Amino acid sequence: MKTSVGIEALAVALPRRTLHLEDLARARGVDPAKYVAGLGVREMAVADAGEDTVALAATAARRLLEANQIDPATIGLLAVGTETGVDHSKPVASFVQGLVGLPRHMRVFDVQHACYGGTAALMAAAEWIASGVAGGKSAIVICSDIARYGVKTAGEPTQGAGAVAMLVSAHPDLLSFDLGLNGTSSAHVFDFWRPLGRREAVVDGHYSIDCYLEALAGAYREWRGKAEARELVRRGASALPSEQLAALAYHVPFCKMAKKAHGRLRRCDLDDVLGAFDEGREEREAASSFERQVAHSLTLCARVGNVYTGSLYLGLAGMMQEGAAALAGKRIGLFSYGSGCASEFFSGVVGTAAAARIQRAKLNEVVGSRERITVDEYERLMALAADRPPEIPPPPGGFRFTGIHEHRRQYSAG
Ligand code: CAA
Repeated sequence: MKTSVGIEALAVALPRRTLHLEDLARARGVDPAKYVAGLGVREMAVADAGEDTVALAATAARRLLEANQIDPATIGLLAVGTETGVDHSKPVASFVQGLVGLPRHMRVFDVQHACYGGTAALMAAAEWIASGVAGGKSAIVICSDIARYGVKTAGEPTQGAGAVAMLVSAHPDLLSFDLGLNGTSSAHVFDFWRPLGRREAVVDGHYSIDCYLEALAGAYREWRGKAEARELVRRGASALPSEQLAALAYHVPFCKMAKKAHGRLRRCDLDDVLGAFDEGREEREAASSFERQVAHSLTLCARVGNVYTGSLYLGLAGMMQEGAAALAGKRIGLFSYGSGCASEFFSGVVGTAAAARIQRAKLNEVVGSRERITVDEYERLMALAADRPPEIPPPPGGFRFTGIHEHRRQYSAG
């Protein structure tokens, strides 16, 4: 089994428009501090007409291929993680294969399990390569979603949209996975779901937070047991096991969730390793370890909002952009959560070429080139029919949905 497998490169695609949460708060008669400090979110991406899950995924895939000069013939697997696909049968991956010109001889499929689908796809791709059956080929895994709860709901400030495309290979310049260490935790719960025919998710918001934290504790403890067995982290060392990870990225439905998650992760260590501890001191230490280990992963998430499957990987992108050089050669931890629920805690070592690779994603340009819209314009976009064609053509390098002809969805490239 090949041991060096992971993420070689990534690319991000976002809707062209963004809503500032302080504007939304004022329009809703809510203290802006609730959204900005209470939920930790500054902006949320708003999908325009034509910017559907396929268009975002294909745009991210094209950026990945072009920025990293990938020969499509080297790709043997394309998997899309999404919970907001566009057809009950034809996967988003199939559209992407055609739109970006990927070869005929490859596995092409979507994976659905709420926000966890992208991680399931990523692990399937990595383990396919590690097993040796990939025959030297690489995989592309894309997480693409439009998070939609609806106007004037409690979930409204936690919407967002976007896609993250990742090249998975035996040359993991960004992150080499610790294969075999992953911890999982899943259960049949109704914390968040979207019945067939609905555009908006149904969510039991506060219960969903409890489900997330419960899953995190289970998945982390399983990972920690395996990491201890391989002596990658140690109890009794001066630092807690989780502090022996140089950085952590969590699934980020809203940025405050990462803070809650980090507190719970540390609590697992404190309960299991120390037993008794001083609560006041822990509060201070949790705050400083959050700044050190987690804050970098929130820079992009705070400006995009929830991207469902892509949120964890947008967090990873932000972490790499802020500190790839300092993290090179160091182990980091990642937690993926999908409602329903399924979760996975996994780890990997940041590559020495990570800083150079992440630069190719031009993330400042992707985030910085968006247009700020008013709340009136956001509400107009939310009221548009799902299959409304766009008002403007796709930008250079991007894709847009353009309409349905004889039941067939049409796209154009810029
Ligand atoms: N100034 C500063 N902070 C304020 C404030 C003010 N004026 N007013 C309130 N706050 C704080 C609150 O204290 C609270 O912080 P804590 O949680 O740290 O106590 C925070 O702002 C939010 O306030 P509420 O809990 O009162 O907010 P709410 O009830 O309106 O809804 C929510 C919050 C449940 C997250 C809701 O937005 C929601 O349902 N979102 C969608 C579901 C979701 O994201 N779930 C996350 C876990 S599930 C998952 O991760 C999968 C997925 O992607 C969906």
